Amino acid sequence: MALDVPDVAAALNLVDRLEASCRWVKVGLELFVAAGPGIVETLLGRDLSVFLDLKFHDIPNTVAGAVRSASSLDVGMMTLHAGGGPAMLAAAKQAIAGLKNPPQLLAVTVLTSMDQAQLAASGVARTPAEQVKLLAAGGLGAGINGFVCSPEEVASLRALTGPEGVLVVPGIRPAGADAGDQKRIATPASAIRDGASYLVVGRPITQADNPAAAAEAIVQEISAAI
Ligand code: C5P
Repeated sequence: MALDVPDVAAALNLVDRLEASCRWVKVGLELFVAAGPGIVETLLGRDLSVFLDLKFHDIPNTVAGAVRSASSLDVGMMTLHAGGGPAMLAAAKQAIAGLKNPPQLLAVTVLTSMDQAQLAASGVARTPAEQVKLLAAGGLGAGINGFVCSPEEVASLRALTGPEGVLVVPGIRPAGADAGDQKRIATPASAIRDGASYLVVGRPITQADNPAAAAEAIVQEISAAI
């Protein structure tokens, strides 16, 4: 569940409603910038697992420092952009070496909001599928086995990583839901059947008239697909 809300009160309101169906919460830029690291401690105190989605992308030394700082918050998973390059990914991996409970590092491949036209405008001539594969191969080479990809690439990344790979998949839209700014989307059942380890769901739950019922329906769809 993506806690894409502007403050602590809104985050805890969602957590209260969704606790029954959701054990992982994703803290992204909007909430982290507003609430600070204390929000992670608060969520861990509610017995939730925290996925810190700050998508680090900087020079290797800076990302290694950010990964060390984020690891001290005891989050279960955290993201960095695969586009930062193999040296940056290797520095991040090195930064968690030796930790007792290291977080799962996830390299973000191509954002689910990007289509071929958006990629081309960023100077990338490959298709999203080709670019995702290239970035994932670079991540594997740097020792990272966790990736964020869209539902469209999850089957090919599962083939690349094997069963040990951790594939986290946003761009999830139950049948008939509004896509919003997302371009490469699929239903929860289809992403699970293609090999996703975790699904990230934001607006289909946060913008629903009844978020608890929306979350429960997604959980049921996942259970039926497994
Ligand atoms: O509201 P929606 O379900 O589209 O939210 C998707 C969440 O997943 C957002 O928090 C977004 O930042 C995140 N995300 C994404 N695409 C990626 C990586 C993360 O949409 N490649």
